[in-house]
Amino acid sequence: MDETLELPTLDLADVSSTDPARQERASRAILEGFGRYGLLYVKGHEVPPVAPLYDQFAAFCARGTEAKQPFNRADIWYQRGWTPPNTERAVIAGGQPDFKECWFAAPIELDPECVDEFPEVCSANVWPEDAPEFREWTLRVGRELHLAGVALLRQAARALELESETFARLCEGAPHVFRLLKYLPLEREQIEGGVLWGEEHTDFNLLTLLPGGQFFDPDGRRGPAPDSQSGLYLRTRPSAEFPKGQRIRPNPPAGCLVAQVGQELEILTGGKLTATPHEVTAPKTPGWSRFSAAHFVHLHPRAVLSPLRPFRSKEALRAYSPPTLAGTYAQKTLVDIGLAPSNALDALGYRHYDRLVEQRAEGPSS
Ligand SMILES: [Fe+2]
Repeated sequence: MDETLELPTLDLADVSSTDPARQERASRAILEGFGRYGLLYVKGHEVPPVAPLYDQFAAFCARGTEAKQPFNRADIWYQRGWTPPNTERAVIAGGQPDFKECWFAAPIELDPECVDEFPEVCSANVWPEDAPEFREWTLRVGRELHLAGVALLRQAARALELESETFARLCEGAPHVFRLLKYLPLEREQIEGGVLWGEEHTDFNLLTLLPGGQFFDPDGRRGPAPDSQSGLYLRTRPSAEFPKGQRIRPNPPAGCLVAQVGQELEILTGGKLTATPHEVTAPKTPGWSRFSAAHFVHLHPRAVLSPLRPFRSKEALRAYSPPTLAGTYAQKTLVDIGLAPSNALDALGYRHYDRLVEQRAEGPSS
């Protein structure tokens, strides 16, 4: 493992600047960060410090399971409200779920047509009535992370010599989702049994924005990681020198966000930008928890997920086929990771067989 890698920092002020030198610097950060490592650090954003939000989410998590049940929305594949522990699993986790509880909310208004076509991922937000600050902070942090994400997508398009709105337009009105996570304290036996906090995976969306996690000790006090092996790790793109990639621990400068490439952006760019494998390893010390947050910028569910024109080499088309709609891709992935039931896949496509069966059951045809 190499923890000493210097990852690029992109200044959002460079993105909005008309100075060609600053634009050039931002494009270099994108190509180096997203192209080589799958991530970069971001400064110059408006995301407020997240400590108050983590306190509010901690207060929600401290409610009894019974009190949290109304927000446990398996019917909408947990896309809003509370996800109980041991629900989600990474595709490669061998069936073992992550030991975490989460909260999902959509901070950005979405295209109303999506609500009819993809009702679960486009559900209305749910909130505890007695926690207005939790709602307000969740939406505020989510919106600011989203704005930072759209600015990065604009610069990514320029860096790849595409029209600057290419990605921003493709994700307008999409069901972008903001998530709060609490990785739960472990008992000694769970640590020895290898319970997972977050197994290694790549995100399936376009871009993920992380404002930074926070550990809490067994008495609920904020603290640094309890040992050198716990927290968020990322795997860089493979190279001749490192065929498995390098496993690194992001160490952003104070106040910076971490931005990660997701599968949708990798597919659109034919692999020019690469989705970042990441995992959250649990500490070897019992009783510690970790809070974090992530905003997932998605493609519009009706966008076609296939390499864009400049990236449609034979190799890329073979690697990222067959083309699919982003919404369909999301539906399949949510089944893969255990949030949607497997019969959600039966809903894909127009069910003309069902109609024929019903019609035939009506009685003798003439
Ligand atoms: Fe992730």
